Amino acid sequence: MNSNTYDQTPSRIIASAQEGVHERLESTVTKHLATNFGKPISKFNTDNYDSAMRQINREKIIFDSGCGNGRSTFQLARNNPDAFVIGIDKSAARLSKSRNNKGEQDPSEIDNYCLVRADLIDFLRLASNDGIALHKHYFLYPNPWPKSQHLQRRWHGSPVFKDIIQLGGVFEVRSNWKIYAEEFKVSLGIAGITSMVSEMNHDNHHYISDFEAKYHRSGQALWQLLST
Ligand SMILES: C[S@@+](CC[C@H](N)C(=O)[O-])C[C@H]1O[C@@H](n2cnc3c(N)ncnc32)[C@H](O)[C@@H]1O
Repeated sequence: MNSNTYDQTPSRIIASAQEGVHERLESTVTKHLATNFGKPISKFNTDNYDSAMRQINREKIIFDSGCGNGRSTFQLARNNPDAFVIGIDKSAARLSKSRNNKGEQDPSEIDNYCLVRADLIDFLRLASNDGIALHKHYFLYPNPWPKSQHLQRRWHGSPVFKDIIQLGGVFEVRSNWKIYAEEFKVSLGIAGITSMVSEMNHDNHHYISDFEAKYHRSGQALWQLLST
């Protein structure tokens, strides 16, 4: 993707009182893996989930969870022609910018992806309840929630981590906060899944998403978790 098409706003390095993996991570993940999360699922999310499922036209399914404006979803679809990629985001404002793939192949020419507006807290439970088995699952630059008391807002600390595990596939998480990737690795390990965290090199300025471009352009180190 052309590096000049991205948001040029500089971005601040994450500040957190946390210096390493959260001290309550293990107990939180263990509890969530053993508990059924009973929060009711909204009709809005169910309807949008059903609509996304109806569009699937490949056997392999990839989720791009928290896809923002969907640039990553589009790139993943182009790079994985044998899979159907679903980009999910709760923000109508971000999704509304999805056609803004300047300098790129027209996304309408690609038939193996869709973008859906939904809260992942519901969407992931709907998919896991349906027995969906993912080929790959991306969490690209999720909101880090760096305050210690917000551990349960991070995906690995959330009650739907159980569904994330159930959905399976190869996990790829990218973050500008190393601790986020490390915590995700520890959490996967609790569920019996091995993964690796490494620093990414973006010297070729090929970015998978707007946030990746923004963080790299601000000189921040970027971290990638890949399950094995
Ligand atoms: C920091 S942005 C990253 C966007 C994109 N992945 C990127 O790399 O450019 C995080 C995204 O996650 C979305 N998000 C956060 N919580 C969500 C939830 N519960 N359900 C769906 N989307 C969510 C936000 O709306 C936002 O677009």
